[in-house]
Amino acid sequence: MAEQLIISTTSHKQQRYDQLLPQLEALVDGESDLIANLSNIASVLKYGMGFFWVGFYLVKEEEMVLGPFQGPVACTRIPFGKGVCGQAWKNKKIILVPDVEKFPGHIACSSESKSEIVLPVLKDGEVKMVLDVDSQKLNNFDKTDHSQLSRVVKVVENLLIVN
Ligand code: SME
Repeated sequence: MAEQLIISTTSHKQQRYDQLLPQLEALVDGESDLIANLSNIASVLKYGMGFFWVGFYLVKEEEMVLGPFQGPVACTRIPFGKGVCGQAWKNKKIILVPDVEKFPGHIACSSESKSEIVLPVLKDGEVKMVLDVDSQKLNNFDKTDHSQLSRVVKVVENLLIVN
């Protein structure tokens, strides 16, 4: 298992993701515990990409509950359809929010978070969790994050096949 992430700090966003993905896959390879893997994935994204907050909200009956994350303390429960996370769950769609203050019903866990992207993680067509990534900068997420974080979600979905 890798002891430290190797990501060039000068590289472009796409290059950083390209460096990060194989390391992330190697990190979860051979480990069957889902929570351990989600924890390391959150760490890889937070420290590899320099995001403000990275974490998973896990579907538990009618709401989602905070799972493994990296960053400041966050809201623990999000009802179905509420906030960006609840909308991503309800619509089974990736939601990219350039300015959180302009998203109706946005749940502010931290006043420092300015933009975010939320991606649903599915198993057998059902949302099992969402990956939420927040930035302190407005408009920080683009189509590169959309496509590359989708690759991360695929890794998590493969973990769910065996869990
Ligand atoms: N902003 C999210 C809540 C989770 S925090 O950002 C960590 C939302 O509106 O669902």
